[in-house]
Amino acid sequence: MPGMDADRARIDAAMRAAVVTSDPYLTEIASHLIVAGGKRLRPVLALVAGQLDGGSAGDDVVQGGVACELVHLGSLYHDDVMDEAETRRGVDTVNARWGNLQAILAGDFLLSRASEIAASLGTEVAGLLARTIGWLCEGQIEELRHTYSVDRPEQSYLASIHGKTASLYGTAARIGGIVAELERPTIDALTDYGNAYGMVFQIVDDVLDLTATAEQLGKPAGHDMEEGVYTLPVLRTLASGRSAADELRDLLGKPLDPTERDKAIGIVRSDDGIESAITTARDYVAVAATACDRLGDGPAVEALRQAPAALLATVLSTSTG
Ligand code: IPE
Ligand code: IPE
Ligand code: MG
Ligand code: MG
Repeated sequence: MPGMDADRARIDAAMRAAVVTSDPYLTEIASHLIVAGGKRLRPVLALVAGQLDGGSAGDDVVQGGVACELVHLGSLYHDDVMDEAETRRGVDTVNARWGNLQAILAGDFLLSRASEIAASLGTEVAGLLARTIGWLCEGQIEELRHTYSVDRPEQSYLASIHGKTASLYGTAARIGGIVAELERPTIDALTDYGNAYGMVFQIVDDVLDLTATAEQLGKPAGHDMEEGVYTLPVLRTLASGRSAADELRDLLGKPLDPTERDKAIGIVRSDDGIESAITTARDYVAVAATACDRLGDGPAVEALRQAPAALLATVLSTSTG
């Protein structure tokens, strides 16, 4: 979202401050991915939400955004262990650099700092953030129990990304609204918006994993399939009933070597699974637009209105969709 440079600087300073401890070793590990970069989309969303009434975001709204970003970060530390990922934000993952045990503990530490900040913002925010961490776990477990399953139902995919990704966007927008003391119907519309934006976000991320280059991604392409995570374009290709479905089915269901991975990417790219997934992402862009209709007017609403389509555009430039 544009025009947020000053706010981003406030978020970054607060993020760094939030992970300082008396132990320099833990501080270094907990700061690792903060220093490396990241788009800070969740706190930016919280800040835009908190500015819907026209004012500037107060420190509490920044802290609400930071609590969400710390949950995101902690979930990335754990996710990179589960996915055996070696790079993130253009640098070594924590697990690659220090080891799995360190990544798990530092991830727990980030969640603990998030909880402490949320508690300082009141019981509603603390309860919501706690529940969201639960949704993240549910989404990740749903993904895990279907790894390497070529019969994974599409409903499993949608439920999983709703939990592991969309819910935190919904919560970030909601916390922005709660802390800024907006009207309840507005807070509910913000939540619906955030959830829909998050669905677009994860579908785009999953399409990019198949269409972008390793350089664009900052991590190897096709990693989801390699790890047995069959995302929407893959599931749609498998369900197409065409020869691509049979070819892909023969290849998947087990870990892939790099040659098999590239072959699988080629099959998915040549069929219409990617385009079909983009159509579904478009449906969520429309859901987000409907939520915006309940938010009134002003520059903050305009920023929200444009964001989902802008996100989708990043994927259109890498695919035929
Ligand atoms: C990556 O999220 C994890 C997913 C939910 C797909 P982001 O793409 O927002 O990651 P950063 O924060 O910019 O690194
Ligand atoms: C990220 O999910 C972790 C959470 C959403 C909790 P993914 O495994 O799909 O994302 P990347 O590709 O590693 O960023
Ligand atoms: Mg994962
Ligand atoms: Mg991952």
